[in-house]
Amino acid sequence: MSSPERGDLTQHAVADDVHFEAQLRPRRLDEMIGQDRLRANLEVFIRAALERGECLDHVLFHGPPGLGKTSLAGVVAAELSAPLRTTSGPAIERPGDLAALLSNLEAGDVLFIDEIHRLAPSVEEILYPAMEDFQLDLLIGQGAGARSMRLELPRFTLVGATTRAGLLTSPLRDRFGWTARLEYYPPADLERILARSAGVLGIDLESEARGEVARRSRGTPRVANRLLRRVRDFAEVEQGRGKPIGGDLARFALERLDVDRAGFDRLDRLVMSTLVEKFEGGPVGLETLAAAVGEDKGTLEDVVEPYLIHQGFLARTPRGRVATPRCYRHLGRELPDAAAGQKGLF
Ligand SMILES: Nc1ncnc2c1ncn2[C@@H]1O[C@H](COP(=O)(O)OP(=O)(O)O)[C@@H](O)[C@H]1O
Ligand SMILES: [Mg+2]
Repeated sequence: MSSPERGDLTQHAVADDVHFEAQLRPRRLDEMIGQDRLRANLEVFIRAALERGECLDHVLFHGPPGLGKTSLAGVVAAELSAPLRTTSGPAIERPGDLAALLSNLEAGDVLFIDEIHRLAPSVEEILYPAMEDFQLDLLIGQGAGARSMRLELPRFTLVGATTRAGLLTSPLRDRFGWTARLEYYPPADLERILARSAGVLGIDLESEARGEVARRSRGTPRVANRLLRRVRDFAEVEQGRGKPIGGDLARFALERLDVDRAGFDRLDRLVMSTLVEKFEGGPVGLETLAAAVGEDKGTLEDVVEPYLIHQGFLARTPRGRVATPRCYRHLGRELPDAAAGQKGLF
C-alpha cells in the first residue's frame, strides 16, 4: 500500500516535512498568504474578542490536508497572545484523558484538537458541556456507588481541524461559533508562498521556476514546499550549490518527480486511468476504485478525490465516481459519447 514515493504523492505530513514545516509555518495572521476571506473574517473575530476582553468563540477549520489548518490554530493562539495546547482526536483515548486535559486549562487558553472527526463518541460527550457551558461532568467511582460531579472550567477557545467535516456529528458541529473551509490555493498565492519559503531556506528560485512549481503543486502549500526542497536537491546535484534555480531546472526536476504538466502525480493519473480503463469511466464506488489502484480508501477520499473534483476531472454521483470529459481528454482517450449520454451526466 505505501510505496517509497508515497511522501510525494499525498499531502499528509511525512517526517521530512515535520522538520521543515516548523521553519516554514506562518506564525501570525499577516504571514499567512491567501485564503483572503477566511483571514479577513478571522481578523474581525479575533479583534472583536480582544476588544471585549472575551475568549474567541470556538472555531472549526476544515479542508484537504496541507492547506494550513494546523498553521491557523497556531496563528489564532499567537494573535490572542494565548498559549496553544495541542492534541488530536485519535490521541484522546478515554473520556478521562480529555477531562484531565480540560481541567488543566487556564482562562483564555487555546485548545487545538486536530483530526477532531476521530474523537471517540464517549470522549465527544465530555466535550459538549465543556464547549457550551464550560462545565465538566465527571463520573466518580463505579457501580452503585458512582456519583456524578460537575466542575466549572475556565473559559477557553477550542480550535478544531478536520479533513472531513462530513464525518463530524451534528451536536459537535453545532457547538462551533464559526466554521471555516480552506480552499485550494491559486498558483499566484502558491508563488508568494514559495517566494517566502525560498527566502527562509536561502534558495535562489527564479520567477519562472517559481511559476512552474506553483502550477504543479495541487493547490497545496505543503506540496509546494515539498517540491521546492526536491527541486533544490536536483539543482545542487545538477548545477552545484547556491546557483539560481531557473525554469528549465524546475521542469527537469518535476519531470523526474513524476509530476505532469497539469500538476498531477502518479496516483492522480493512476486513479484517472483506472477509472477510464477498468471501469469504463464509472460510476464506480470509492472502495472498489481504491482496491483497484491499491491505495487506502482514506487517502483517495481525503487527498486524491477532492483535487480531481476541484479541477473538474472527476465527479461524484449518487451511484459512484465518474470520469468527466476533461479526464478523457487529459488521458488522450476518446470520450464514449453514447455511454456518457446514457448515464445522463453531461
Ligand atoms: N497560508 C499559508 N501561507 C504560507 N504557508 C502556508 C500556508 N498554509 C500552509 N502553509 C505551509 O504549508 C505547511 C502545511 O500547513 P499545515 O498548517 O500543516 O496544513 P494542514 O494542517 O491543513 O494539513 C505549513 O507548514 C506551511 O509551511
Ligand atoms: Mg495539520
